[in-house]
Amino acid sequence: MTGPYVDLSDSLNFVNGYPHEFFTWLREHEPVYWHEPTAATPDGEGFWVVSRYDDVNAVIMNPKTYSSDKAGERTGGGTAIKDEVSAGRVLNQTDDPYHRRLRDLVNKGFTVKAINALEEELSRRTARLVEDLKAGEPFNFAERVSREIPTQAICIVLGVPESDRMMLCEWVEAGIEKPSGSVISLDYVKKIRSYAQTLIDDKRAHRGDDIFSTIVHAEFEADGSSLNDYELRSFFSLLFPAGAETTTRSISGGLLAFLEHPEQWQRLQADPTLIKTAVEEIVRWTTPSVYKRRTATTDTVLSGRNIRAGDKVTFWEMSANRDDAIFERPFEFDITRSPNRHIGFGAGVHFCLGAALARLELSIVFATLARSGLALELAGEPEWVPNNRLVGLKNLPVRVAAKA
Ligand code: HEM
Repeated sequence: MTGPYVDLSDSLNFVNGYPHEFFTWLREHEPVYWHEPTAATPDGEGFWVVSRYDDVNAVIMNPKTYSSDKAGERTGGGTAIKDEVSAGRVLNQTDDPYHRRLRDLVNKGFTVKAINALEEELSRRTARLVEDLKAGEPFNFAERVSREIPTQAICIVLGVPESDRMMLCEWVEAGIEKPSGSVISLDYVKKIRSYAQTLIDDKRAHRGDDIFSTIVHAEFEADGSSLNDYELRSFFSLLFPAGAETTTRSISGGLLAFLEHPEQWQRLQADPTLIKTAVEEIVRWTTPSVYKRRTATTDTVLSGRNIRAGDKVTFWEMSANRDDAIFERPFEFDITRSPNRHIGFGAGVHFCLGAALARLELSIVFATLARSGLALELAGEPEWVPNNRLVGLKNLPVRVAAKA
């Protein structure tokens, strides 16, 4: 490679945010690029890096060629650069028809009606949170505001009692902070799974009105069976990083975007009907779930490069969402952007299960903040989480200046 180089397997290369310059170069010069193995890819294998929107789509929309599960003898599979033990067992790391089976059942819980039913409680909690923001001392917005609503939302979905919610959230944060190139630490997995089993036993005995209870009791039309404990535990463990962490990062990244583009904030305050397009732009701009990995099931060709069966293929949604072949002025944050064909929620069979919930949370948080008339300002240097998979802020120092 003759251009710039960033080791994408090293989470420390994401401590200043996403390496946009490198990807702009890749999209132009090496859209399907072979990344050599590094110290942070302990499986000892290199991987493909797909950066253009159209190529990313070609991979996502073709799960027979690019598997989310294992792909034969050579590799372990999964959706991270590093092979994952959960490959082939968890919703996002399986292929059809097993994936379809799991997804059909969890869809029975994630209905439009069930998601809309959360609106009132999330709005009430957000209003309280925003009311408590007072002029004066700086505070960490990422911790105090961004984390709260997604954590509450996922816990309401899962029927987790109020008293356990912050404890679960801390386990997840501790797991994700590890700059190891892997998303989740094993210690976290053990704790969360054991907690999940207790909750499943409880839901089986006493069905609640939460979405997780619906899923625990849902039956397959074909034979009347339900998801087993293993499948339910795995699903539970997936939802925290998949749901809470991504949305938290979108809220912090969205606020930072507004602070850096105050004219966009004024537009939203002046015209609250812009919230819908604003939310889509926040997801495009922040793309917190920045890449996924698939495994090639067969020899194939992508944009002129020969990919071999068993190769790891990573595709970078964040890069696709800044591709100027698709988006006009991709590096401008524009809350009126329309159309906005971002793939921040993925596409195809693994399209984000929680997209409607995430959109609801983002709408409530930003509409409430905009309505409040609070003038927020940056009170220090933002700090990023050292993670290459879920990119976002861990510290967003903000001060309430005054009421506008
Ligand atoms: C801004 C917030 C969010 C973003 C950016 C996001 C992004 C994504 C992306 C890109 C995928 C595709 C994965 C793949 O192709 O391998 C995905 C899948 C998924 N998301 Fe989200 N997500 C968000 C919020 C949520 C929420 C709130 C939930 C749960 C309530 C959730 C649950 C899931 C699940 C379970 C999957 C796997 C679906 C499957 O494999 O069939 N996500 N998400």
